[in-house]
Amino acid sequence: METTKKNRQPRILISEQEVQRRVREMAAEIDRDYADSDRLVAIGVLKGSVFFLVDLLKHVTVPVAVDFFQTSSYGAGTTAGEVRIRKDIDLSIRGKDVLLIEDIVDTGYTLRTILDLLRWRGARSVKLCALLDKASRREVDVPIDYCGFRIEDVFVVGYGLDFDEQYRNLPYVGVYE
Ligand code: IMP
Ligand code: MG
Repeated sequence: METTKKNRQPRILISEQEVQRRVREMAAEIDRDYADSDRLVAIGVLKGSVFFLVDLLKHVTVPVAVDFFQTSSYGAGTTAGEVRIRKDIDLSIRGKDVLLIEDIVDTGYTLRTILDLLRWRGARSVKLCALLDKASRREVDVPIDYCGFRIEDVFVVGYGLDFDEQYRNLPYVGVYE
């Protein structure tokens, strides 16, 4: 019914304007920090980071290569803490400055796994850029170098984040209730 559909519309937590303003600020920071690097590789984690990565990199002016990982956790719906790489990056990152781009850091298991892998493969530097930080949910420590917004422990959708593969295309971050 009509009303049921309406109730499913997420409540706006971070508006499109707020998101875009912060994304431009973060891009400016990245531009400044990597001004002397000619070997920056931005790596997104599929699929959630895509909307954020595209907007962010459109504002970055230093030379940058782009690649993607796709991961999944064992035990759907639960936090098993064991992360599987489903799609690896194509580029070699040996000696490169890697900027890992993620939609949200929750327990931290996904990022911890990827950060360790990137270092093991010989990246010159590895930094983490995340749109959202759900710090109260953290189980393993991952330092976020560029953080968009810290949020409470609520389930969010939009701007890349999904519930059952829906809502990724919302231009804002909303609370799914
Ligand atoms: P972590 O390994 O627990 O940090 O998992 C992070 C991943 O869980 C993110 O990349 C998202 O795909 C997903 N996730 C965590 N919290 C949310 C949320 O509130 N909404 C949608 N996806 C989420
Ligand atoms: Mg994700």
